[in-house]
Amino acid sequence: MPTSETPEEPQAPHPLDESAIERCVTEAIAAFDAAEDLEQLKAARIAHTGDKAPVVLANRRIKELAKDEKKEAGKLLGAARGRIQKALAARTEVLEAEHAARVLVEETVDVTAAPRRRRPGARHPLNVLQERVADVFTAMGWEIAEGPELESEWFNFDALNFDPDHPAREMQDTFFVEPAESHLVLRTHTSPVQVRALLERDLPVYVLCPGKTFRTDELDATHTPVFHQFEGLAVDKGLTMADLKGTLEHFARAMFGPEAAIRLRPSYFPFTEPSAEMDVWDPHAKGGPQWIEWGGCGMVNPNVLAAAGVKDPEYTGFAFGMGVERTLMFRNGVSDMRDMIEGDIRFSQRFGQEV
Ligand code: DAH
Repeated sequence: MPTSETPEEPQAPHPLDESAIERCVTEAIAAFDAAEDLEQLKAARIAHTGDKAPVVLANRRIKELAKDEKKEAGKLLGAARGRIQKALAARTEVLEAEHAARVLVEETVDVTAAPRRRRPGARHPLNVLQERVADVFTAMGWEIAEGPELESEWFNFDALNFDPDHPAREMQDTFFVEPAESHLVLRTHTSPVQVRALLERDLPVYVLCPGKTFRTDELDATHTPVFHQFEGLAVDKGLTMADLKGTLEHFARAMFGPEAAIRLRPSYFPFTEPSAEMDVWDPHAKGGPQWIEWGGCGMVNPNVLAAAGVKDPEYTGFAFGMGVERTLMFRNGVSDMRDMIEGDIRFSQRFGQEV
């Protein structure tokens, strides 16, 4: 007795039962026609032409028949199976064509579609300019040196021969960092890196020190509380003002073209003696060729060399320092420093990848 677990064997019609076999054919054709895609057609094909299909089972029963009946049944079933195969082939052709047409539509690539554009960024001209300056000096064999932005008061002032009551130490110029006993400041210039470089390196020393600097200035067209400088320092046997002037002249020409020149005017800085203001003749300045105040320089004060542990009197040094923002202003015609810090990409893009 069949239990519910035993799958019911499909009924095999008698091989000579014409109407039952005709029903098998119409059911198969109806199933193929009802299949909406190749997947469904496959299921119908297995059901109506597979091992368990009624016509296949009926075919198997032919052997039970008498000889002359076998022939008749063979003809009947052969014709029925032929019609089923024909209907299957016809439906397969239709569904395959539909499938191909659908794939063509679904997988179409629109070669005329506009690409999704990502706007390229741009390097900030202050960075590019600093790198350009660094390139001029590394090409002469100088090293790049760096120091901390949060600097000890000793490096920022004392080691550089500032008097304890020098006005630059006043609250209105310098960002002092609490607690006062920490004696830390946000460095007001890159000159402290001179002393650090001398303490860290063996002589002779040729270093360029680019970096961020801080002063308690209000932000306006020509001042910003956070700005950048680069500092140059050379300490070697027998260096003189002539070496300083020659170096600055080469630097000026590398930055402003072969007609550029420099001029030194006597000045005062605690860390240099003698000291000078340096002007550059900028032949391409936006306001026409002119002398422009570019930075400070001088021979390193012996007190600074002493603070940095240079005892051999044969060694002398020269130093110079300039502002990067100011250089970008007159060299590249930027009239408002605030444009440099607002972070508007359009400002940077104007310069391209080169300044
Ligand atoms: N540190 C100075 C400033 O911030 C610039 C300067 C002047 C640097 C003379 C030097 C120098 O190395 O010799 O204004």
